Amino acid sequence: METSLTCCARGAILPTASSQQYSTLASPRSVSPSFSSKSLRGSSIYGDSLRIVPRSSLKVSKAKSSALVTKCEIGDSLEEFLTKSTSDKGLIRLMMCMGEALRTIAFKVRTASCGGTACVNSFGDEQLAVDLLANKLLFEALQYSHFCKYACSEEVPELQDMGGPVEGGFSVAFDPLDGSSIVDTNFTVGTIFGVWPGDKLTGVTGGDQVAAAMGIFGPRTTYVLALKDIPGTHEFLLLDEGKWQHVKDTTTIGEGKMFSPGNLRATSDNTEYAKLIDYYVREKYTLRYTGGMVPDVNQIIVKEKGIFTNVASPSAKAKLRLLFEVAPLGFLIEKAGGYSSDGKQSVLDKVINNLDERTQVAYGSKNEIIRFEEMLYGSSRLKAAQPVGAAA
Ligand code: F6P
Ligand code: MG
Repeated sequence: METSLTCCARGAILPTASSQQYSTLASPRSVSPSFSSKSLRGSSIYGDSLRIVPRSSLKVSKAKSSALVTKCEIGDSLEEFLTKSTSDKGLIRLMMCMGEALRTIAFKVRTASCGGTACVNSFGDEQLAVDLLANKLLFEALQYSHFCKYACSEEVPELQDMGGPVEGGFSVAFDPLDGSSIVDTNFTVGTIFGVWPGDKLTGVTGGDQVAAAMGIFGPRTTYVLALKDIPGTHEFLLLDEGKWQHVKDTTTIGEGKMFSPGNLRATSDNTEYAKLIDYYVREKYTLRYTGGMVPDVNQIIVKEKGIFTNVASPSAKAKLRLLFEVAPLGFLIEKAGGYSSDGKQSVLDKVINNLDERTQVAYGSKNEIIRFEEMLYGSSRLKAAQPVGAAA
């Protein structure tokens, strides 16, 4: 079912900033590594709105009409937006629980102390590296949602049973803290996750996702998400009072000369990639690259233009994971009106054969992806009749 969605501004977006209210987030209880539901029930890290919902009230409701028309508004809360966008209460709850985890991770990233090799923060009585802490918080949130069957993370690439149902439930793959090697430099980092229906994370494609999202921990904290049933990719800003507010929709990615070239070392023995990079430089594209996939891909959604590449070569193999990173970001980009490619096909068409599968990838506007495929492999499945050329 494709829900039609119209969004409009609702006056002033930002309320007056109040003092930061992280009292419930600052001292979370320690969580057992087994992610037991007992420890989750007593956890203090999630808001009351999530804690008081009894499992029995969380029935999955199917859409009654195939032509559900929703009217979301810029300025809506996350819950208002989700309620208008999908009738699947399980998915709403899962996305809300992940929002709670992202809020806590944002706080932990912001207050981490960074030494020689890692950035650490406290979690109950433990001192944990922030990526491991994020990993724990996300598993905990998924178990707490009651709608996650299996979860799997880049840190723990094995299916973990979260106790939710197969029918009406979801399986979730996540990269807890992408860019953890640049946390110490205070660059933007982020969480990536994809949501698949039922109990399968292999033998499926990125196109089977029902939702995908990023949590972005920069000067501002945002939650950028897309849902299968509605068009667009939607940005929520974390306000001082702890709420997520809908601030932007992206539905088209246009042409524009901005490039974000990953795995550049591959240009030493991949002459096609070297020529593509030469083309960007010769054509005076603006370089925007942090080395963190979340901000580097998010800028395409925010600026509604550009190209991100991470290309492999014999000596610099593909390192980005299809399940945890590439497919969820592909879903966000394509929902935003952009395109993705592994050189020959959309990354959303690639079957995920194993949890740790790696791939090269590009995300961007249509003409940029055509150029990427043509320069790497001589032709593009997207080739249009008109000549390709990026606007200034
Ligand atoms: O997840 C791996 C990662 O850190 C991405 O966030 C980033 O895009 C990539 O590696 C950077 O790779 P490179 O340093 O080779 O360009
Ligand atoms: Mg990563």
